[in-house]
Amino acid sequence: MKSKTLQILPSILSARMGHLAEDCRRAMDAGADGLHVDIMDGHFVPNLTMGPDILRAVREAVPQAYLHVHLMVMRPDLYAPKFIEAGADTVLIHAEAPCDVKAALAAIRASGKRAGLTICPETPVAALAEYKGLADEALIMTVHPGFGGQSFLESGVPKIEEAARMWPAADISVDGGINAETGARCAAAGANVLLAGSFLFKAADMRDAIADMRWKIESVRKAGG
Ligand code: DX5
Ligand code: ZN
Repeated sequence: MKSKTLQILPSILSARMGHLAEDCRRAMDAGADGLHVDIMDGHFVPNLTMGPDILRAVREAVPQAYLHVHLMVMRPDLYAPKFIEAGADTVLIHAEAPCDVKAALAAIRASGKRAGLTICPETPVAALAEYKGLADEALIMTVHPGFGGQSFLESGVPKIEEAARMWPAADISVDGGINAETGARCAAAGANVLLAGSFLFKAADMRDAIADMRWKIESVRKAGG
């Protein structure tokens, strides 16, 4: 578990949309391991964000960056190929999406990309059981998906422990209300991929904020947390 690579991925939902290319480069230059990109369709969640053309612009801005794309849409099976074509490295879909989730995960992998499966705060970890081995990553939401800047839901911490036990070979990611302190607690529970929007993009110095997060997380991982 602890040998899994720690990744700190700023969520560009909190970037300045009028300066998106600049903010993507700023995040990568500040020491990010990649970028988290939130795609919302106004139906699966009550907000609208970016389409494949925006992801393509991000890919052009940071050609080498690892792009971790979180689809909060009703039909991730229809849209995953479009985001893969636009430059996604990992595509995460929701277990709650009204589509054939197993087929969608398989199609992402068949494209040579990594597949992730996400669960909302109200979905129990048991919902992941039937997908074991079909995804490379499990994403535990610690806010109700839709908006940045919400408060961290403590109920996610035991879910991370449970997911890490259930899927020991997979990356375990956490999204929503993550800062250096909540991130360290999630890492101690078994998360190795930390997604953070407002904490990093609103920091006075993103390099310091990423370094602080990494230091706090590495110390709990070393402590055997
Ligand atoms: C919420 C998104 C998150 C969001 C997190 O639905 O999936 O990725 O950007 O934002 P913060 O870190 O501000 O909670
Ligand atoms: Zn997200």
